[in-house]
Amino acid sequence: MSHGFQVAPWELRWNSLDLDALERTESIFALSNGHVGMRGTLEEGEPRGLPGTYLNGFYEQHPLPYAEAGYGYPEDGQTVVNVTDGKIIRLLVQDEPLDMRYGRALEHHRVLDFRSGTLRRDTVWESPTGRRVRVRSERLVSFTQRAIAAIRFEVEPLDGGIQLVVQSDLLANEPVQSASRDPRVAATLDAPLVAEDAVAEDFHAALVHQTRKSQLRVAAAMDHELDTEDGLRCEIHAEDDLARLTAAVDVKSGSRLCLTKYVGYGWSARRSVPALRAQVDAALSGAMQTGWDGLLAEQRAYLDDFWATADVEIEGDDELQQAVRFALFHVLQAGARGESRAIPAKGLTGPGYDGHSFWDSETFVLPVLTYTVPESARDALRWRHSTLDKARDRADALGLAGAAFPWRSIDGAECSAYWPAGTAAFHVSADVSDAVVRYLAATDDTDFERDYATELLVQTARLWSSLGHHDLHGGFRIDGVTGPDEYSAVVDNNVYTNLMAQRNLREAASVCERQPGAAAGLGVEPSEIAAWREAADKMVVPYDEILGVHPQSERFTEHAVWDFENTPQENYPLLLNYPYFDLYRKQVVKQADLVMAMYTRGDAFTPEQKVRNVDYYEPLTVRDSSLSACVQAVLAAEVGYLDLAYDYFAEAALTDLHDLHANVRNGLHIASLAGAWTVAVAGFGGMRDHDRSLAFSPRLPTALKRLAFRLTYRDSRFAVEIDQAGAGYTLLDGPELTVRHHGEDVLLTKGNPEWRQIPAIDAREAPAQPKGRTPRRRTPKVSTPSS
Ligand code: BGC
Repeated sequence: MSHGFQVAPWELRWNSLDLDALERTESIFALSNGHVGMRGTLEEGEPRGLPGTYLNGFYEQHPLPYAEAGYGYPEDGQTVVNVTDGKIIRLLVQDEPLDMRYGRALEHHRVLDFRSGTLRRDTVWESPTGRRVRVRSERLVSFTQRAIAAIRFEVEPLDGGIQLVVQSDLLANEPVQSASRDPRVAATLDAPLVAEDAVAEDFHAALVHQTRKSQLRVAAAMDHELDTEDGLRCEIHAEDDLARLTAAVDVKSGSRLCLTKYVGYGWSARRSVPALRAQVDAALSGAMQTGWDGLLAEQRAYLDDFWATADVEIEGDDELQQAVRFALFHVLQAGARGESRAIPAKGLTGPGYDGHSFWDSETFVLPVLTYTVPESARDALRWRHSTLDKARDRADALGLAGAAFPWRSIDGAECSAYWPAGTAAFHVSADVSDAVVRYLAATDDTDFERDYATELLVQTARLWSSLGHHDLHGGFRIDGVTGPDEYSAVVDNNVYTNLMAQRNLREAASVCERQPGAAAGLGVEPSEIAAWREAADKMVVPYDEILGVHPQSERFTEHAVWDFENTPQENYPLLLNYPYFDLYRKQVVKQADLVMAMYTRGDAFTPEQKVRNVDYYEPLTVRDSSLSACVQAVLAAEVGYLDLAYDYFAEAALTDLHDLHANVRNGLHIASLAGAWTVAVAGFGGMRDHDRSLAFSPRLPTALKRLAFRLTYRDSRFAVEIDQAGAGYTLLDGPELTVRHHGEDVLLTKGNPEWRQIPAIDAREAPAQPKGRTPRRRTPKVSTPSS
């Protein structure tokens, strides 16, 4: 057992009834397809931590309060809404409600199954008066029918015949958590949904609501199949915020009650009440026609395909094997069927960060999707493209050209009320362009290049042209921005930002040459292309000649170093315990920034610079963001600190399963989960995708015997298998392909697996981290049959 979860390769099993862990397990057991998300609450509705059902893109708007407002501050915030809850199925055993806080749970476990894509529960409950029932449930949020969730709920009396009453609800405006001082928690919305329509007939009911300010409309509908013998009495009714099917059944000894509940969701900013109801009813009819077994079969087939192209195998640490599959499963859930919507930092697993999407999506999640489910990466980038009008308005309001993508948003409008770590984090626009470039290189999708990529690259390049300037010394500077490290803000020439902008400018220039028609449509003249190239060539990249390292931004290395010695452990994360002004003026790094640059723009650094920079930044980086460990792991692996990389691997992969940031109740850290894949593939696999080609420099930490992963590239699928001695590359299908192994070209052809030795590396001692911030030393966890 590990943190309550049993170690197993393809599932996550929780055996206890630890009610204090409810909120945590609700996030971890959340089901989603990127469009609909449901937290893993118990069917009976109570006890519960944070009930949550979310629809991607569905939010309420609220004014952002400022003590002192300023020009350009966003006026409105957006918060994800907990929409109508369709998960609830209450049960009355004789006349006692199933409630795990009363009576006794003789058996209880829940299993998230990564291959069936379902959450199962098996409970034997003894009521306070001694009646025993077995309750089994299984639920899914369908990957194939994106508006649909379904639950199979079975009750078996264990002490002879009994009367059971089930109540299946649709419940809107559930009260949720109270306010918190932690900026990472969502704004509280009080009853955000206004009832518009409620209907109920036979086994079917629907509720339609609208948000007050954002004026978005949501319809939720449910339908049921009830499989029982005789003695059935049913009624259904619907009122504003509640629709309920009640079924009273006499269940004979040896028999059981079996209810299948289908739930459909739809939302729209434009569609009328009847149109939206028709939409969800149609989705429900489709699902019922497929039936429960059909939905299960579709779900499994979808996931079989996913694992065949995306699985990561780890030998030597069973807990990490499980954690990486858990991570991939949730990354898929966050991104699979969002289609024209964003991928929020928490996916659809909780209300944390108000449901906003950040650079997390393009920088951490999209690389995974690009090489595993490229069409989902394309859809997420299309979402960015669909928000270009807002990004252009934002740039305009800031007196800039092109498009300034928001630091955080649901619909594309800037929602960050905090300038220094919000709008000033302009790098998000380069991150979007980087994801576009990666997607194009990995897919050769020329339609996307013409119809979406050119505009995204051009408008972001225009932003950099207007944000930077040529100085008197022949350099192109970008001043007054915030890089990934939010403990430094509004700085000059942040290396990460400048190098990412440099690539953005160059890629915009080349795409315009490849797509002259699209470029002409955007008014791009040859002189503009030349100006982008010139700015890129002259981009300032500060370097500290005395220390022989890159300051993450100008003058950073001259600042006082944070007093780590006298910073107590309980004061982390520092942002909750120290004033920002002090963080800003000291050398203390929240999350990989210069080190991040050495990953995404690794082509801009020499191997010696990478070692020196890693040695310099490790002792300053406190990892107060879950986005850091994975990036530090990648660079630690590259420079040869493989065991340190392994420790960081565990930290990234177990962030949520071990609740390392003590906030998993608000939702999972999707970027960190994606980061677990990144450590496997880019860290120990050493994959880099600079220059429109794939290069690998694999090397394993001592603890791992074998690591294998699969990737999709252009029209080919191939597998990489690494052990301590060498690496194998096998083309699984598609055209032949050349990859690099430690600098050597390897041609992959069908039926000819290639094997190459891993060159030796000199052992050097890894740098230390700030006091108390050393990652936990990882000892591999291997499952035993009894664990
Ligand atoms: C990090 C950001 C990140 C955000 C959402 C913050 O703590 O500093 O880089 O985008 O969390 O995950």
